[in-house]
Amino acid sequence: MISIRNEGPADHARVREIQEATFARPDEARLVEALRRSARPQLSLVAELDGELTGHLFLSPVAIDGPSPSVECAGLAPIAIDPVFQRSGIGSALVRESLRRCSEVGWQAVFLLGDPNYYGRFAFELAAPAGFHYESEIFDSVFQLLEITSGALDESSGWVRYHEAFNSLS
Ligand SMILES: CC(C)(COP(=O)(O)OP(=O)(O)OC[C@H]1O[C@@H](n2cnc3c(N)ncnc32)[C@H](O)[C@@H]1OP(=O)(O)O)[C@@H](O)C(=O)NCCC(=O)NCCS
Repeated sequence: MISIRNEGPADHARVREIQEATFARPDEARLVEALRRSARPQLSLVAELDGELTGHLFLSPVAIDGPSPSVECAGLAPIAIDPVFQRSGIGSALVRESLRRCSEVGWQAVFLLGDPNYYGRFAFELAAPAGFHYESEIFDSVFQLLEITSGALDESSGWVRYHEAFNSLS
């Protein structure tokens, strides 16, 4: 059985292990540690499969560099499922629960970089047609958005800037 809950301090070592194993490098694990320290608000969720911690997802605030009325948005990254347990529904459960909790945090829309074939199932859509870009138009084919509050982004467009901790990722 898959269950999703807030991450606690006792989970940090296992979360680091999962992030490192998933991405085969320490960068995302370090990013999570930097975000935990400095991103406010933040949402850090873990997934357990039959009591074993197998996945982790982080949401942090993003800023829109462009004409944007005050709309509060999040970036979903990084997400990592222990490679041994991938494709068993854990990632889907984590994403769905994180989206459900966004409005409690006050986020009206979520952005992410990822495969549209995967994130389309959660109703994410390409962001470029709505006027949003990440860093360079090279990313237009993988940069996606989902409105939590319908119409929240209607009056906005521009470059979406993640928390400065993401600058350390290559
Ligand atoms: C991408 C990831 C989060 C998906 O989580 P998961 O628990 O493995 O996936 P789920 O079991 O929820 O979903 C499985 C479905 O997604 C598809 N899928 C899984 N990973 C995918 C990917 N990278 N691209 C496209 N589709 C993918 C599977 O084919 C399967 O499709 P089906 O339902 O039609 O059979 C996970 O595989 C992962 O951690 N991957 C490596 C890290 C990564 O790429 N993170 C995202 C960038 S931050």
